[in-house]
Amino acid sequence: MREVIKTVGLTKMYNGFPALEKLTLTIGPDVCVGFIGPNGAGKTTTIKILTSLIKPTAGEAYVEGIDIRESPKSALMNVGSVVETPEFYPYLTPIETLDYLGRLRGMDEEYIRDRSKRVLEQVHMEDWATTRIGKFSKGMKQRLGIAQALLHEPTVLILDEPTSGLDPRGMIEVREIIKDLKKEKRTIFMSSHLLYEAQEVCDWVAMVDKGRLIYFDEVENIGKLMGPKKIELQTVADLTEGQLDILRASEGVVEAEAVQPKVVLLRFDGSNEERAEILTKLVGEGVGVVSFKSSGMELEDLYMSMIEGGS
Ligand SMILES: Nc1ncnc2c1ncn2[C@@H]1O[C@H](COP(=O)(O)OP(=O)(O)OP(=O)(O)O)[C@@H](O)[C@H]1O
Ligand SMILES: [Mg+2]
Repeated sequence: MREVIKTVGLTKMYNGFPALEKLTLTIGPDVCVGFIGPNGAGKTTTIKILTSLIKPTAGEAYVEGIDIRESPKSALMNVGSVVETPEFYPYLTPIETLDYLGRLRGMDEEYIRDRSKRVLEQVHMEDWATTRIGKFSKGMKQRLGIAQALLHEPTVLILDEPTSGLDPRGMIEVREIIKDLKKEKRTIFMSSHLLYEAQEVCDWVAMVDKGRLIYFDEVENIGKLMGPKKIELQTVADLTEGQLDILRASEGVVEAEAVQPKVVLLRFDGSNEERAEILTKLVGEGVGVVSFKSSGMELEDLYMSMIEGGS
């Protein structure tokens, strides 16, 4: 397998304190990896090492097989990045900014022009190409940051908390953009506080806490760690004891408890077919079902337990 990003025992010390401790990670081609961890976990430190903004205290880091410490320039030819909140000259427009950054990267005029148009489309900023950046919202600056990262067609895109500090709509926009970028051949490494964000956007999850890697696996395997799912059932009227007993006797149901008037919480460990069967039974019993959905907290519960377990 082509090793697109590789770190071996990567360590960064600040005043005798490890911000990053022996991070060993290998990431293959054309995958999106969510780099998840709480504040101070070492995410930005890792990203700054990978983008040669800081030097590691120990360990190795390679991009497309090129040693970042030995040959930062050639390693970074393959990388586009947005580290922390991107800042731009407020009096320039996106087109002027991309032109300026393209020249700095040694791209020729025509290539810059073609690519600028393309990358602004990719981040849905084509209508703002000639507006001064001073007027832009944080979300627009973040999108322009992604556009500049893509300008020289890097095979690796590294984003440090691309949705952090954005409003819900801005977060969704940036996630959709990243999902679209995954359709092109490229490895994406993005940090986030949110496990559910990584689960939604990425193929793999690497979790760090206190400078150490505590989990690295494909997103589809996260479910296996979670055990029984929580399903919240909301009904028009309270369920009778008999109806609750029918629920409890259903395949896959571990527990069913009325937690509020007209709300029953199920713990469920079965297949999708069994889950569908529960709903069919309820409707057959004449129960008016308002909603029947997985309760959203389970993933973040897992995240918290992993962080606690990793300490
Ligand atoms: N320049 C520095 N000098 C001293 N300590 C630092 C420096 N940069 C980072 N640290 C420390 O290293 C640890 C890791 O920081 P880092 O910024 O990598 O975390 P992070 O995972 O990006 O957190 P956040 O989610 O808050 O952005 C923290 O304890 C931080 O205080
Ligand atoms: Mg950070």
